[in-house]
Amino acid sequence: MNAQIDKAVNGVSGWVTERTPGLAPFLRKHLTEYYAPKNFNFWYYFGSLAILVFANQIITGILLTMHYVPTAAGAFASVEYIMRDVEWGWLIRYMHSTGASLFFVVVYLHMFRAMLYGSYQKPRELVWVLGMLIFLVLMAEAFLGYVLPWGQMSFWGAAVIINLFSALPVIGPELVIWIRGDYLVSDATLTRFFALHVVALPLVLLLLIVLHLGALHEVGSNNPDGIDIKKKKDEKGRPLDGIPFHPYYTVKDIFGAGVFLVIAAFIVFFAPTFGNLFLEFDNFNEANPLVTPQQIKPVWYFTPYYAMLRAIPSTLLGVVVMGGAVMIFFLLPWLDRSKVRSYRYRGWFSKMMLALFVVSFVVLGWLGLQPGSELQTLVARICTAFYFLFFFTMPLWTALDNTKPVPERVTSHA
Ligand code: HEM
Repeated sequence: MNAQIDKAVNGVSGWVTERTPGLAPFLRKHLTEYYAPKNFNFWYYFGSLAILVFANQIITGILLTMHYVPTAAGAFASVEYIMRDVEWGWLIRYMHSTGASLFFVVVYLHMFRAMLYGSYQKPRELVWVLGMLIFLVLMAEAFLGYVLPWGQMSFWGAAVIINLFSALPVIGPELVIWIRGDYLVSDATLTRFFALHVVALPLVLLLLIVLHLGALHEVGSNNPDGIDIKKKKDEKGRPLDGIPFHPYYTVKDIFGAGVFLVIAAFIVFFAPTFGNLFLEFDNFNEANPLVTPQQIKPVWYFTPYYAMLRAIPSTLLGVVVMGGAVMIFFLLPWLDRSKVRSYRYRGWFSKMMLALFVVSFVVLGWLGLQPGSELQTLVARICTAFYFLFFFTMPLWTALDNTKPVPERVTSHA
């Protein structure tokens, strides 16, 4: 019996291989002969987790689309219907809404890892730039998705954010009408947001993810020591400090995915709104253009930028600062002049700057959730100033700071 099954399997795989001569070399290049540094640590889980969350969003998104009604009259009721009447609808919706927040948790940690180990430095600039494009599209995707349930926050959040474009000189007012497709956020806005959210942007994201990984596999992965493992090879040309991605890192990533799914399941089952953070309470009320919510604020992953916008009295300048705060990340590979990649071998000043940057980002995120007292505005201004100081002065302190000698071979401890 076993021999017969073996024969059948070999027959099918032989048939497929004969017709896809490129498949085996492809799998070798990207899996079994992709030599990844053997000192990957905790921080290297987040790339594969981002793929996992992306897959979750696509699958749950398709299922939601089967019952969601993309009209201003029907959207809110259709989401209520999904939550109450569709079999397992509540689970699918909570997996999608929790997935959106977890996507940002994972991507922020993934980006921080790159900052920690200088993964954006030469020769991985393109990997970083493609990552940043993913980040921009992801932000747009999340914003559009939040409008779809047509709750109070969906409506008013969209109104506030779209209105920001009116601050642009000359084209501003016309641009706002063009985006909305109407003189106010309406049915026309909802239907175009739906089209972009479910078709256009997921396709762009998928393409960018493929390019991101393609670019990475051309140059090879960085590692916590920031050492180029291709410099030391054995007689067969394999990096001495590298191990095949498959099976070693596929197993590691499956373990990471298991732990992550347990945490995600706890949130989905026991705290899907995550105390007003992942789904805002105001959004459980249907959109009403005549009643403004007490406090209009975005979901937590946008609040660091929102706090900057609010801290600046002029709307135009606020928009420029907010946009600049995101775009400046693109320049990181060229702002960092350090001789070493990893923070393990950088001086105390660089470490302090990175730590303060993280603190100011988190504080801004918290401030963006608050009503915005005078003191809070002052703190937001200080944090915003430091945020930009970090980037503007980076060429100086990365070039001047003392670095430690980098070992010849990778190390497996921090
Ligand atoms: C949908 C979102 C994303 C997915 C699916 C994704 C996927 C991945 C994967 C699978 C890896 C290899 C494994 C790893 O290093 O963890 C990777 C590496 C990398 N990613 Fe992403 N990524 C995403 C977003 C981003 C963003 C937003 C950035 C930065 C702006 C970024 C920057 C990088 C860099 C610099 C590397 C190389 C890291 C190294 O070799 O040390 N990625 N990405």
